[in-house]
Amino acid sequence: MDQNELKAQVGAEAVKYVKDGMIVGLGTGSTVRYMVDALGKRVQEEGLHIVGVTTSTRTTKQAESLGITIKDIDDVDHIDLCIDGADQVDDDFNGIKGGGGALLWEKIVNNASVKKIWIVDQSKLCHRIGAFGVPVEVIPFGAQHVFNRFVKKGYKPQWRMTDDNKKYRTDENNYIIDLKVGEIADPHALAEDLIHTVGVVEHGLFLNRVDMVIVGRDNGPEVLQA
Ligand code: A5P
Repeated sequence: MDQNELKAQVGAEAVKYVKDGMIVGLGTGSTVRYMVDALGKRVQEEGLHIVGVTTSTRTTKQAESLGITIKDIDDVDHIDLCIDGADQVDDDFNGIKGGGGALLWEKIVNNASVKKIWIVDQSKLCHRIGAFGVPVEVIPFGAQHVFNRFVKKGYKPQWRMTDDNKKYRTDENNYIIDLKVGEIADPHALAEDLIHTVGVVEHGLFLNRVDMVIVGRDNGPEVLQA
């Protein structure tokens, strides 16, 4: 199976966990796109009643086009189940997210969710996270100083750029700096350092934040319980 088929496989598998009446957190990314398509199909074909809370304007647009009711996160008091993608997942279920630039809203939705599922194709699994890089969302004011600080710390920062060579802007109008740190020996220590850096809004290290990972494999989806 090619990568897209594996993404479609886990997207279809994940929506089986959605029950009538649930408030569902909808992640962002190419894998989640398949999941939202599959969920929209259930809403249309089974008359499933759910409310979605999205993690990006992209996902909102897609979900609404499929007839999924979307509510603002502040109009719900909790989210029953969040289904999101990930860029890397290690043996201890630590993850890196933010390749799609939505890490801040994703972490807020993750925080508000009772149960959390990640859907990934088999290429995302690793023994130690880091090779993907660590996306860090920073406010524009003084962002160059934050970047310089990362250089001094040896974090090998790179500005996230758009195709037309402008600094990428998130849904909150912030910048993203990608840290090319390589495999991370102590993700918790790095997370602590990043979140205490003035100007950093959030980082893409998602540690102890998932209950189940559905992995797309050639012989069918594998469910890993964290
Ligand atoms: C979005 O910001 C990300 O966290 C995505 O969930 C993650 O990058 C996985 O995306 P893909 O499914 O496109 O690989």
